[in-house]
Amino acid sequence: MKVPCASRHHATLAGSELELLVFDLEQRRAVLGVDECEVVRMLQHAARRNEYLLCDPDERAGRDLGELRRRQLDHLGIATKTTTSPAAAARERRSHKDARKACKGTRDRERSACVGVVLVTGGCGFIGSHVVDELVARGERVRVLDLLHPLSHDGQPEYLNPAAEYVFGDVQDAELVARCLDAVDRVSHQAAMVGLGSDFGDVVDYVRHNDVGTATLLRALARATEPIRLVLASSMVVYGEGRYRCVEHGLVRPSPRAPAQLDAGEFEPACPTCGLPLRPEAVPEDAPFDPRNVYAATKVHQEHLCAAFAREKSASVLALRYHNVYGPRMPRDTPYAGVASIFRSALESGRSPQVFEDGLQLRDFVHVRDVAAANMLALASTATGAVNVASGDPRTVGALARELAAAVGGEEPETTGDYRLGDVRHVFASTELARNALGFHASISFAAGVAEFATAPLRA
Ligand SMILES: NC(=O)c1ccc[n+]([C@@H]2O[C@H](COP(=O)([O-])OP(=O)(O)OC[C@H]3O[C@@H](n4cnc5c(N)ncnc54)[C@H](O)[C@@H]3O)[C@@H](O)[C@H]2O)c1
Ligand SMILES: [Zn+2]
Repeated sequence: MKVPCASRHHATLAGSELELLVFDLEQRRAVLGVDECEVVRMLQHAARRNEYLLCDPDERAGRDLGELRRRQLDHLGIATKTTTSPAAAARERRSHKDARKACKGTRDRERSACVGVVLVTGGCGFIGSHVVDELVARGERVRVLDLLHPLSHDGQPEYLNPAAEYVFGDVQDAELVARCLDAVDRVSHQAAMVGLGSDFGDVVDYVRHNDVGTATLLRALARATEPIRLVLASSMVVYGEGRYRCVEHGLVRPSPRAPAQLDAGEFEPACPTCGLPLRPEAVPEDAPFDPRNVYAATKVHQEHLCAAFAREKSASVLALRYHNVYGPRMPRDTPYAGVASIFRSALESGRSPQVFEDGLQLRDFVHVRDVAAANMLALASTATGAVNVASGDPRTVGALARELAAAVGGEEPETTGDYRLGDVRHVFASTELARNALGFHASISFAAGVAEFATAPLRA
């Protein structure tokens, strides 16, 4: 069975008198020349989306496609109810079974036509939304599971890609996650509570969203009948301080800087053995874990959980350790935001960016579209373990502030000598493994990325 014409606003299923509104399905490349099981699957996705759209009819009245479509979908045995009554659940299970049966016949011939949804958790966020855009641009079918966490969002962001399917819910919800995995063969797990945290009181929330959320997803993946590739959004924060070399003692690991040392304006860590100054080096992936705050501890734990899952279930899992990501849709200045958006927000309100310490802290600022590109390579590859995602072009925090100020003709940055306990001095990445394992190299230069970011839309 073919959908004859996707460019019209409806398509006719041969052998049936039903005229089905295809609504946004015609936006998807997959609708062209696909077989029956694929049509059924797409309709199921649409029906499920309808279910979520219908869960708040007042707010989404304009997008309710009406009784006609519901009747048509019902006729196909596809559940479209707003509540999951036992009868609706049974009908949905039956329709899943039918779709699987329909797929089975074509599995050997054309397996890829019956699988291939990419689930992006946290796909409404800064990085996740760029991952979604890139997947959609490549013709992938994308489902997003996002809670719209109030620390990240004040309602639905306006940049959501309409070609993706959105499920607004929590990755800790086991039943919902299991349903979201329907027809999925790759998962990009971006959902997390991010940032340094403003208060230790946040600890339980971080553990819930990041650790329990990841554990819930992994259990659902472990129960899946087909193997599913998992890419975890991890972070450079797992390393704590970067890597340092002493001319006398080789590689050394300085301990966290003491408040007295920082108060005295001594920002550079010294060799723990001889006290000599150290030379910072790019961090390779085999550097030891040394999380310095609650958020970092949860990112380490996410990696450990994923590694255990990969080992015990022979699953295909890769952790991407993003360095300092910046770019459009970055959240505005909050205690949870990155330094680039804190500087941007200051410039926007006519203030001079406040640069902590002496401004010479080294970081690797990597553009969010490069991070999305790394995710594409990671989802398509079978590489396992962990790789850094970075530009390979470290800059100081002071240089970032100056570059941003210059790009908008704003106030000169002010170097304050203040500090945040828990901040590390230098951390920047070795990009060798990403190049060798994934063929990834960042393509957006610091100058071009910062110039764009200086006026790019931020998230409210
Ligand atoms: N931004 C960076 O510089 C950076 C650096 C390293 C790693 N990371 C990692 O990248 C990922 C994305 O970060 P971001 O900067 O885009 O943050 P973000 O806050 O913009 O996006 C995170 C998204 O996850 C969602 N979310 C949170 N908890 C959830 C839950 N329990 N269930 C479903 N959705 C949930 C939020 O609503 C949000 O849309 C995170 O895992 C983060 O740890 C980010
Ligand atoms: Zn030494």
